[in-house]
Amino acid sequence: MKGLILSGGKGTRLRPLTYTSAKQLVPVANKPVLFFGIESIVASGITEIGIIVGETKDEIRAAVGDGSQFGAQVTYIEQDAPRGLAHAVMIAEEFIGDDSFVMYLGDNLIAGGITSLVREFEELGCNAEILLAEVPNPQQFGVAELNEDGTVRRLVEKPPEPRSNLALVGVYMFDANIFESVRRIKPSKRNELEITDAIQDLIDRGYEVHPHKVRGWWKDTGKLADMLEANRIVLESFDVQRGPGKIGKGSSVEGRVSLGEGVELVDSLVRGPAVIGAGTRLENAFVGPYSSIGENCELVRCEIENSIVLSGSEIRDIGLRIDGSLVGRNVRIVKTDFKPKAYRFMLGDNSEVGIT
Ligand code: DAU
Repeated sequence: MKGLILSGGKGTRLRPLTYTSAKQLVPVANKPVLFFGIESIVASGITEIGIIVGETKDEIRAAVGDGSQFGAQVTYIEQDAPRGLAHAVMIAEEFIGDDSFVMYLGDNLIAGGITSLVREFEELGCNAEILLAEVPNPQQFGVAELNEDGTVRRLVEKPPEPRSNLALVGVYMFDANIFESVRRIKPSKRNELEITDAIQDLIDRGYEVHPHKVRGWWKDTGKLADMLEANRIVLESFDVQRGPGKIGKGSSVEGRVSLGEGVELVDSLVRGPAVIGAGTRLENAFVGPYSSIGENCELVRCEIENSIVLSGSEIRDIGLRIDGSLVGRNVRIVKTDFKPKAYRFMLGDNSEVGIT
């Protein structure tokens, strides 16, 4: 089997972070979301991976390279515009050839990987396997309607009145029959070739499409709460290794905590699950559960939990604990002694501040 990862499109969600970075490179637990997809494909034994890239191709290439850091061989496939997931499949036909393949949307994250799903697809010998998850907002996804015997009756892309709460998760397995289906369908109302319609075409032509329900799935919908949930899913279910960082004077760590190279803890407590990136310094600080602190940050006399802080940021002398927050790169949150006593902000577009 081969792998096909979709990492094209424009970064319009998760603003303000995606003003400066492709959405597939937004870090969760200090690792770009895209890397989790690549790693889980490689873990399933698939090493030939095609990556669909668009406007943000240079950034994606710079981060992933030739794939050797993951033990994979990566081929980049350029898409001229985001013409839909089925269009991405169409332009990957030469790369895939007659093989079966797993298609992974680069902005999706699945706890527990995909190895057992790939095995299931191979053992069943079906023509396609789709993953489904129960969601509270099915209108925002492809939605599956099942028959009483559990087989798939119908798939509809973002229906205003969904017939079920089962969303299509962004991981699909196909044999080569999908290539005829992507050529048979017409663009949707949003003018994209929808993979949902192509899979419906497989069903209509009598091919076997096996549905599999999953838990622990995340996809960006542009909200802070979603990012924090992704961070929790990863920190909860992935292996958090201790790492090389040192626990210095008056400091301790509790639970599953990863300390990157050169991390310095002075009179601080880190309570896992949490990751602290290389070169970050904590002094008189508390980092609580479900926190991901990026590289080269400085946290001094402050407390933070259930939050994501990206690299190069500084938090200093903040009296109240920071909770449920997402802090971008090179941000400074510091107490000042300037007069008059006042809040002073310099915030990028679409930023949000909550003050108690
Ligand atoms: O995440 C699951 C959902 O993904 C499914 O429930 C939907 O059925 C499916 O259509 C898709 O919905 P979205 O509209 O949310 O997909 P999005 O445009 O966010 O694209 C998903 C990924 O694929 C993202 O990493 C960008 C990439 N992409 C997207 C398009 C449209 C491409 O590489 N090329 C494209 O043409």
